[in-house]
Amino acid sequence: MDLAATQASTMIFPGCPSLKFNTPAPRTSAARISRLAADAKRLDWGAAYPVNQRQGESQPGPALCVSMIEANNLSKQFARHEAVRNISFAVARGEVVGFLGPNGAGKTTTLRMLTGYLPPTSGSARVAGFDIFRQSLEARRRIGYMPENVPLYGEMRVSEYLKFRAQLKGLGKHDSRRRVGVVLDTCGLGGVRRKMIKTLSKGYRQRVGLADALVHDPELLILDEPTNGLDPNQIRQIRELIRQLGQAHTLLISTHILTEVEMTCNRVIIIDNGKIRAADTPANLIGKMRAAGRLQVEIQSAPEVVAAALNRLDGVKKVTPEAMDDEWTRYVVWVDSGVDAREAIAQLAAQYGWPLRSLFRHEATLEDVFVELTRPD
Ligand SMILES: Nc1ncnc2c1ncn2[C@@H]1O[C@H](COP(=O)(O)OP(=O)(O)OP(=O)(O)O)[C@@H](O)[C@H]1O
Ligand SMILES: [Mg+2]
Repeated sequence: MDLAATQASTMIFPGCPSLKFNTPAPRTSAARISRLAADAKRLDWGAAYPVNQRQGESQPGPALCVSMIEANNLSKQFARHEAVRNISFAVARGEVVGFLGPNGAGKTTTLRMLTGYLPPTSGSARVAGFDIFRQSLEARRRIGYMPENVPLYGEMRVSEYLKFRAQLKGLGKHDSRRRVGVVLDTCGLGGVRRKMIKTLSKGYRQRVGLADALVHDPELLILDEPTNGLDPNQIRQIRELIRQLGQAHTLLISTHILTEVEMTCNRVIIIDNGKIRAADTPANLIGKMRAAGRLQVEIQSAPEVVAAALNRLDGVKKVTPEAMDDEWTRYVVWVDSGVDAREAIAQLAAQYGWPLRSLFRHEATLEDVFVELTRPD
């Protein structure tokens, strides 16, 4: 038995001298570490999720857990429809993770399971080491959840509503007052604190939703499309707020706005049709996309002839012509990894005397990755 996994205890038996044993600690750090390490290996989380190996400490497990979220084979079935299919992923403490997917992909369903609002059909989830259903109070205390449609009481005033929410989340009177002051400040709501919620603009209502998620001072924020329906100025303001919050919180944000993800997230999880299609940093995802390569060329000549000639070039996988308004045609030329066919295309155009007005290599974006991974075929 690993000594680090044991703690000395003295056991007294009537009529016998006291005996000292090394007995297993109730939930020892070493046992927990090896279980987490096994989980990490099984889920292929890799070295990005180290387990804090403070050998010899025997405090309860969750404090040792570096993963803020562990989703383990989560599935959700609605009648005959499987909205989420056996997904596993982890979010480390301090990460800001974008959760992307097209409409109906299963984002909200996953987030609702992670926050304890929807029981999974199978699988489990832990937040800060606590099982979201079996230890739901402990887990939920650590989560600030901003749902897709923030349910606000229109007849209440902003600070009154936040105080009510704080008390509902278990804060005492004094702490509620203090925390409401803090979140009004953080979310830029000081100027509207006495306004009725129903009179607020959409952007300010989103801020109230965010303040609500923050009021009990959670370590983890789970935000479901926080900038949905906002105008560009409001999006910018909320994005800046999220960026600031990311400095002191772990964040999981579902969004459709890809530039937002590129600007604010360390990592992206792409989900489609209830399954995870990719999980990596935006830069790595874009890098993989770029390796596959895509060129764009505009030529004025018979499209079928040009497309056939382009298709015959070395390293060209596919050519898709797109008719333009005038007599020009734009061709998207998909090439093998590492192939740059620009010179060959220019030579081809010169050889046949085709007028050519544009030729460039397409710089992949996160949008390309998203479309490639989630487009219906
Ligand atoms: N309560 C429910 N009952 C039945 N089906 C549901 C329920 N909630 C979600 N669904 C279905 O599960 C699938 C996933 O829905 P979900 O809301 O998780 O998608 P989403 O990725 O959040 O989409 P969006 O981008 O539109 O918000 C959809 O097909 C949806 O119709
Ligand atoms: Mg949704």
